[in-house]
Amino acid sequence: MPGKPKVFVTRIIPEAGLQLVREACEAEIWNEPLPPPATVIAEKIPSCDGLVSLLTDRIDGPLLEKASRLKVVSNFAVGFNNIDVNACTERGICVGNTPGVLTDATADMAFCLLIAAARRVVEGHQYTVSGRWKTWEPLGHLGQDLAGRTLGVIGMGRIGSALARRCQRGWDMKVLYHDVYANEKAEQDLGARKVDLETILAESDFLSLHADLNDSTRGIISAQALAKMKKSAVLINTARGPLVDQKALAEALKTGTIFAAGLDVTDPEPPAMDDALLKLPNVVIAPHIASATIDTRNNMALICARNLIAGITGQPLPAWVNPEVRNKRR
Ligand code: GLV
Repeated sequence: MPGKPKVFVTRIIPEAGLQLVREACEAEIWNEPLPPPATVIAEKIPSCDGLVSLLTDRIDGPLLEKASRLKVVSNFAVGFNNIDVNACTERGICVGNTPGVLTDATADMAFCLLIAAARRVVEGHQYTVSGRWKTWEPLGHLGQDLAGRTLGVIGMGRIGSALARRCQRGWDMKVLYHDVYANEKAEQDLGARKVDLETILAESDFLSLHADLNDSTRGIISAQALAKMKKSAVLINTARGPLVDQKALAEALKTGTIFAAGLDVTDPEPPAMDDALLKLPNVVIAPHIASATIDTRNNMALICARNLIAGITGQPLPAWVNPEVRNKRR
């Protein structure tokens, strides 16, 4: 009788998902706090039928060359820029991700960073705990109002729309978006208007990034783009660090080209301790935690496990990044 399919799971994910994986597969789970080095994944991959990867694992052509029996890569993330999807498709390997379940948590985090940066919350906390708070200051700690301002969303998919809904319904903001696709629902429900990059840069009070990282979006927030933004603008990035030229952003924050930034992602992650961004008062940086709620991570683990098992057993993946592989899957 053939044994269970073999899988490598590159980190401990919530038990809800691991349990499903263990029931269906012979699973080796990397249980270190840091990701497995690429050499370890390369060593394991030849004997694997399935792989659970994280956004910190690079799954590329040279690795896949060694993956002669691999049927599926199930990424524990909605983003999949760590995976060469075309290289998987060419080899008949399915790719899964975890969309939908993290939409609200991520939009909440984008809003949290927006208001924290606009109202200088972290700077105020540092001020308090370092003993600099002496009295109520009429001219101190002045930030930006939110109500009635303009939100710009680059990448108006699920998460961008969820942030826009919060800002429009709760704070009566005007919504602009920039995307290759029109989002008719956001246009109808929120009065969102699709505009070009120049317009969104020039008119947004809050500019939030929700685009995939690919060749056309990498570095979209460049020095030139920052120079076109309002001096009072706040930039929010909960998508991927390389969407922003980080050196240019540090310079723009230092020189007052824009007012503040709220980041959940950086380039690289974590940022180097001597990165100029870390010395600035007008940036709030979280350690890539937008989907980090208990329920969201449990739900991500369930989808991730179901994608893995479907990939191994020849079923359609519940969240399938490359359904075009259907007719040639291994
Ligand atoms: C996190 O960044 C994700 O893509 O899920």
